[in-house]
Amino acid sequence: MLELEAWSLGIVNQPGKSIVLIGMMGAGKSCVGRCLQQRTKLALVDTDDIVASKFGISIPEIFSKYGEQDFREAETQALRELAPVRPTIIVTGGGIVLCETNVDFLKRLGVIVWLDGNEETLFERASRARTRPLLKGENPRETFTQLLQLRLPLYAKVAHVRVDTSVLTDEEVTVAILSKLRKLGRNWRVESSAFAEATADKPVPATR
Ligand code: S3P
Repeated sequence: MLELEAWSLGIVNQPGKSIVLIGMMGAGKSCVGRCLQQRTKLALVDTDDIVASKFGISIPEIFSKYGEQDFREAETQALRELAPVRPTIIVTGGGIVLCETNVDFLKRLGVIVWLDGNEETLFERASRARTRPLLKGENPRETFTQLLQLRLPLYAKVAHVRVDTSVLTDEEVTVAILSKLRKLGRNWRVESSAFAEATADKPVPATR
């Protein structure tokens, strides 16, 4: 039954029809990616994993040893080299939308799904693991707000589909994504600007 998911989405064996997960730290991209993989039986790649394996060390170690700039360059390189021949679930790091080149690569890969959530929930989840290098400073809460405000319009601009994960389990998010993709059907290559317009009157999340 579950194997039918990918088929019913019309994405079996179609290059350029991958499902790309974007969104802020704490949105649940990695866990939802795994749920999606289980349901659709598609392959799964995570740009953070690619970067970590290129350096041979963890993401926090890359940041502390080489700095954010080197991480970002490796992230762009990972995307550049990503050309799955079959549809794939592609999980990205929260900052992937910061670079215009990355955005072009993301669009080429397939449908872009933005996992969103209210700020408090995202922060609470992101800081729980204590592994996010960008939240290691003096005031992680403040930093989180700044990063989120900068990124929200970028996520909105590039996404085809948005799912608010605030009160949903990973399974529920997965079901919501699949149902939205099914509704998009063959039209999931809608202009992302149309999506940005559709979400333009979305209230900006409170900043504390
Ligand atoms: C980052 C998010 C991280 C990782 C790196 C930078 C960011 O991934 O790519 O620490 O800039 O938001 P997650 O979004 O999976 O935490």
